[in-house]
Amino acid sequence: MATMKIGVFDSGLGGLVIAHALVSKMPQYDYVYLGDTARAPYGDKSKPAILANTMQGMEVLFKKDCKLVIVACNSASADALRKIQQEFIPAHWPDRKALGVLIPSAEAAVRDGKRVGVICTQATADSGAFNREINKLSNSVQVFHKSAPMLVENIEKGEQKEAHKNLSRYLSDLTAQGIDTLILGCTHYPLLKNKISELVGKGVNVISQDEIIPAKLQDYLARHSEIVGDLSTSASIEFYVSKITPTSQRLANKLFGQSVELEQIVIDGQYGG
Ligand code: DGL
Repeated sequence: MATMKIGVFDSGLGGLVIAHALVSKMPQYDYVYLGDTARAPYGDKSKPAILANTMQGMEVLFKKDCKLVIVACNSASADALRKIQQEFIPAHWPDRKALGVLIPSAEAAVRDGKRVGVICTQATADSGAFNREINKLSNSVQVFHKSAPMLVENIEKGEQKEAHKNLSRYLSDLTAQGIDTLILGCTHYPLLKNKISELVGKGVNVISQDEIIPAKLQDYLARHSEIVGDLSTSASIEFYVSKITPTSQRLANKLFGQSVELEQIVIDGQYGG
């Protein structure tokens, strides 16, 4: 009997935007969301810290019977995913899978883009991971990273005016480079995509991960019937976070776009940290 689920991992609550898009596209599956809110944000953490935290998060999701985990956090996809796929999973959970959000974004960007801007966290910008993934696909594309350190906080606190002010500042550095494509390289930014599109203008193709990841996962599953065969289909979703604060429930509802019930869970373990 198929009993396994699809996990979605994020540093905090922003991954709920991606989780919602996944559930909307493929509502039949059972999902487990895990946000490491006790240790968020990851975007200003070191690579070893992000790796240790992400491995511990994966461990929680694998123990909750996730066959496949989408690492929705760009910072974790940039700094931890490769090691998780190449070392952690083969050593500890060889029948499980982890997929990130960078490669699908890079694939979408190189389709028409020649000058690709990326707005993201400091950790993602420092990792150079988007540059690496895009250059694997095409060596005629130039990539410009811009870290947007205030945006996550602005979005979480509902500071719309501040967010727009900061956005114009961050984006003007990228538009000055003559970008034709912009990747929203952080879980939270899809919530600002209308404003971002307005600021960068019609000539720039804005790539928002909530619009591309669900179709990518659907394609992946179509090519992996052995995984689909293990996935249960009761159309359920559980939400876990490592810390619940007075504002997290309201923020979670906003990011998921409907009411969710958060449950607190400990994320720790033997891996680094
Ligand atoms: N989830 C993170 C990302 O996509 C943003 C929030 C954080 O810095 O933890 O990079």
